[in-house]
Amino acid sequence: MALVTLKEILANTRKEHYAVGGFNFNGYEDAQGIIQGAVSKNSPVILMASMGAVKYIGLHQVAGMVKGMAESVKIPVCLHLDHATDYDLIREAIKCGFTSVMVDASAKDYETNIAESRAIVEFAKDYGCSVEAELGKVGGKEENIVVTDASAAFTDPDDVPRYVEETGIDALAVAIGTVHGFYKSEPKLDFDRLEKIVKITQCPLVLHGGSGVPVEDFKRCVQMGMSKINVGTELKAAYSKTIRKMVGENPESEFDPRKYVGPVKDVCAQIVAGKIDIFGSADKA
Ligand code: 13P
Repeated sequence: MALVTLKEILANTRKEHYAVGGFNFNGYEDAQGIIQGAVSKNSPVILMASMGAVKYIGLHQVAGMVKGMAESVKIPVCLHLDHATDYDLIREAIKCGFTSVMVDASAKDYETNIAESRAIVEFAKDYGCSVEAELGKVGGKEENIVVTDASAAFTDPDDVPRYVEETGIDALAVAIGTVHGFYKSEPKLDFDRLEKIVKITQCPLVLHGGSGVPVEDFKRCVQMGMSKINVGTELKAAYSKTIRKMVGENPESEFDPRKYVGPVKDVCAQIVAGKIDIFGSADKA
């Protein structure tokens, strides 16, 4: 089916207590694997391209590829631009068919974050594209965006109502203790904070930094009302590990590149299917 927006794909999440996975991809094999995993679970899915992935593959190439993949399957697929700080790129992505973008003005002060996010919402409206934005600062490293422990800041629930109201966003990324990249020690999620945020807004909430979060923490977040959960690093690591394994297992005379990269699809599909079981989105397509 045709690509759907983030707003549509998250519409029933909170009331039916499930979250839709947002999975980062960097090429054809992992993107196809993510779709394959979601199809195997009859689940909706969000494919996320970072600014780095878009620069690597090409904006039109990403849009065309994922649009084609979505149209070949019967589950709802949303194409999302992840953590974008370049507003020209965001506008180009919206024009070329992305059905969701994340404007990341989280490094800016509150008023600037509101103004810049609202400007993107205004622009996106004409194209029927959804917008996610971030309040607070999720720590760790996401591509070229590095947030040190010292500058990471949890979302203040009191800041949320005005932010959601004035920006007009479709989903809100919250900082409650997860970080991007692998964890150095077990993450400690601030569930009291999440509870306050869920109570204070109806806006669908997004958990970033999903790689390495314990299953029970995921389930608790979803039960409490988390609508979208992002997973990137785990897929990247599995992609690279698979290639290393395939190179080790094949003789030098094997020159068909599909023998090396093809298995990445199944590996990513398996990871995605596992997350879908945890997030509760199986059979929600
Ligand atoms: P991880 O890479 O830590 O899974 O985080 C992904 C993410 O939040 C992308 O926005």
